[in-house]
Amino acid sequence: MFTTPAVAAYAAAHTSPPDDLLADLAEETHRLVGDRISMQIAPEQGTLLTMLVRLSGARSAVEVGTFTGYSSICIARGLPADGRLIACDVSEEWTAVARRYWQKAGLDDRIELRLGPAADTLRAMPAGESIDFAFIDADKPGYPVYYEEILPRLRPGGLIAVDNTLQHGDITDPAAGGNVPAMREFNDLVARDSRVTSVLLTVADGLTLIRKN
Ligand SMILES: C[S@@+](CC[C@H](N)C(=O)[O-])C[C@H]1O[C@@H](n2cnc3c(N)ncnc32)[C@H](O)[C@@H]1O
Repeated sequence: MFTTPAVAAYAAAHTSPPDDLLADLAEETHRLVGDRISMQIAPEQGTLLTMLVRLSGARSAVEVGTFTGYSSICIARGLPADGRLIACDVSEEWTAVARRYWQKAGLDDRIELRLGPAADTLRAMPAGESIDFAFIDADKPGYPVYYEEILPRLRPGGLIAVDNTLQHGDITDPAAGGNVPAMREFNDLVARDSRVTSVLLTVADGLTLIRKN
């Protein structure tokens, strides 16, 4: 998106590809939702999520925005066998697909689905610093709330990854509407937050990595 098609194709060809299970999930999601497949993370983000979770040694993870399960599978695959991912979403229909693929992937014992508004789910979680890794990829106006609920529960050195922070490149357009103003506010909030160190990567639609100091 932020590069030429030739360079993007080259980068994709030199990134470990999704396996058959993830490719099948992407295909089935496309059949189910058509153009809304764009809600699913890009394959290279999936590879990156698994790598980040594994490199960080995370055992306890939270996802806000599960959809049909692509990112949750990538996160759970980076966890050790006794690790745990809490997956938050409001859609029974979409997460029914996710549940099926968790089972196929042998990950259903590692992932717990919590259906309901993610703000409520996060607020109901214990107050201690128990989360090692979080991924935020749900309704964009909710991002500040998700961030502020997750950060105090994240262990120092823990990581939050946040999707769609560049809004198809519209983030720098002052006239852009939709989710852009909310995302700009969120990006500003993170950039001035002395509790964290962050980097906004131009991967896919923008992926911000936030490490708690
Ligand atoms: C962009 S999709 C997530 C894509 C997913 N990460 C993947 O890789 O396939 C956003 C998801 O957020 C969910 N969502 C929207 N508002 C929500 C809320 N208030 N609480 C929890 N989930 C919400 C939607 O149901 C949808 O499944």
